Order: sequence, then structure tokens, then C-alpha cells
Amino acid sequence: MQVQKILAECKKNLIDLDKQIILILKSIEQNISIIIDGESGTGKTELAKTVALALKRPFYRVDGDENLTITQLRGWFDPALVIESGFGEDSFIPGPLTLAMLNGGLFFFNEVNRAPSESVNGTLSAMDSSERSIEIPQYKSIRAEDGFYTIFTLNPSEYIGTNPLPEAFFDRCIRISLTHKTGKIAEEIVKLRTECTDNSLIRKCVQFAEETRISTFFEQGASIRGAIQLTQILMNEDWNDSQVLHAINAVFSGKVKLQPDISRSVEECLEEIAYNIFFEARPKN
Ligand SMILES: Nc1ncnc2c1ncn2[C@@H]1O[C@H](COP(=O)(O)OP(=O)(O)OP(=O)(O)O)[C@@H](O)[C@H]1O
Ligand SMILES: [Mg+2]
Repeated sequence: MQVQKILAECKKNLIDLDKQIILILKSIEQNISIIIDGESGTGKTELAKTVALALKRPFYRVDGDENLTITQLRGWFDPALVIESGFGEDSFIPGPLTLAMLNGGLFFFNEVNRAPSESVNGTLSAMDSSERSIEIPQYKSIRAEDGFYTIFTLNPSEYIGTNPLPEAFFDRCIRISLTHKTGKIAEEIVKLRTECTDNSLIRKCVQFAEETRISTFFEQGASIRGAIQLTQILMNEDWNDSQVLHAINAVFSGKVKLQPDISRSVEECLEEIAYNIFFEARPKN
């Protein structure tokens, strides 16, 4: 694998993740499964998708939820076709895991911690570097073609209350943890995603999102997504303070969570932060 060449391709779309990209590429080369973890908006999905695109291999994505079954992942027999031709290749509808194995592509399991542990268990033999196979009952054992690899993402703050992942799962993976990017690097990301040329606006939007994460008002702040969206809405407009506040509320009110002991509303808290960053002075009552 031409690691440096693929890294250069990935760098066009990913800011400040070189070490992580190299680790992922080396792991793929050695058939080691990868977990990317990090809070919402830290770049997990973008990282996995960008590497897959740069590798030019087929990409099969599954999003974890409580109803996801092993059968959905591996595949199932079409009852009508089974009556016609019995259990076999003609009646088997392969699921994304099986397709990724057969076509030597990426099996990308997003938000794996939201899926039932039985379903995650169903992927273990495929992701094991020495096995790389799964058993389809009443059919056959499927071995992964060269090029097959697996990436999982999980959000640790959503871990509580979701399904505990089996120890055997973590044992088969390397784990790459992403954190929120801040300051100049976050500004670079917003610039890349929005193509905004107003650096001062980008700086304010990034600062606003960061402030929601460190503010004592909030138990949970917003990720860079908030900064990206606010930039997109405010760019190329000459809005007055009241319109800017309206936009800030629209972007951030659903992304932050108030501390339980705060008696002010989310809107009042966002407004307080906005005055420090966006406006020269408070409006006179
Ligand atoms: N390092 C980075 N380089 C370029 N873009 C980034 C980077 N980090 C985050 N982004 C951008 O920030 C946004 C959020 O990233 P992404 O969707 O990958 O987050 P996530 O970790 O998958 O979040 P969630 O857990 O909510 O799914 C996207 O628009 C993504 O392109
Ligand atoms: Mg994601």
C-alpha cells in the first residue's frame, strides 16, 4: 500500500488527522479492525469515509440501532426463492457485511454501540485477522477476499444506556480516539467545509461553539457542526444583531444541554455568550 500517496489524498479533505490516517492505513494493511471513537462531531464518519474513498475500494455502511439483527448484517434467504430453488446462492440475499467480504471492500459500522451486542458478536469472526470468515447457516462459510476491512465508530458519551460491547470486540480492534478540534485548526476545518472567505466570521463562529463547550451554563456543548452551520447561515449576509441572534438560537438551541441548576433559559444563555463574541454592546432596554 502506498501510504504516503493515500495520506496526501486524504489530507485534501481532513485537517490535522495525519497520525490517525497513517495508523488506519497500517491497520488495514495488516487486516486489523479499527474502532474510531469520539464525541459527536469530532470527525469519525468523515475520517472513515475519506480513507475508504482514497483507497478506492467498495464501501458498505450500516448504522447501528436497537433493531439491527445479525441477519440484516450477514444476509438472508428469500422465502419465495427458497421454495423455488432451495437454500443456495440463488436464494441468498447478501447483507452489507457479506458484500464487503465478497467484494474486498470496507464494512463500515457506524455507531456500533447503538446495536444489540448479539449483532456485534455476529461480526467477530469476520473482523478477526486470522479468521476473516462467517458461517451462513444452511448455506456455507464465506471467506473475505483480499481488500476487506472493517471500521466501527462509537460515541463514548452515548455509551451509557446503550448496549455493552463484548470484550472480544475490543480485543480484535485498534482504537483511535478523536477529540474536538479547537482554535486555528477548527477554523481551518470550517473554512474547508463552508468555503467562506470571511476569516473574522469563521473565527467568531468557532469561538461560539467552543464557548458552549466550556461555559458553565451547559452540561453539553456543541461540536464544530454548530460553527459550520452558523458560518453557512451568516456568510454573505449583512444582518443586524437581532437577526444574528435568531440564527444563533436556531443553530445552537438543539445542540446544547443546560446544567440542571441553571435557572435561565437556553436562549438567554446563548444570548449571553453571543454578546461576548458577536456584538459590541448589549442593546439598551
Ligand atoms: N479533522 C477534520 N477535517 C475536516 N473536516 C472535519 C474534521 N473533523 C470534523 N470535520 C467536519 O465536521 C463535521 C462533523 O464530522 P463527522 O460527521 O465526521 O462527526 P462524527 O464524529 O461522525 O459525529 P457523530 O458522532 O455525531 O456522527 C463534518 O462536516 C466533517 O466534515
Ligand atoms: Mg458520524
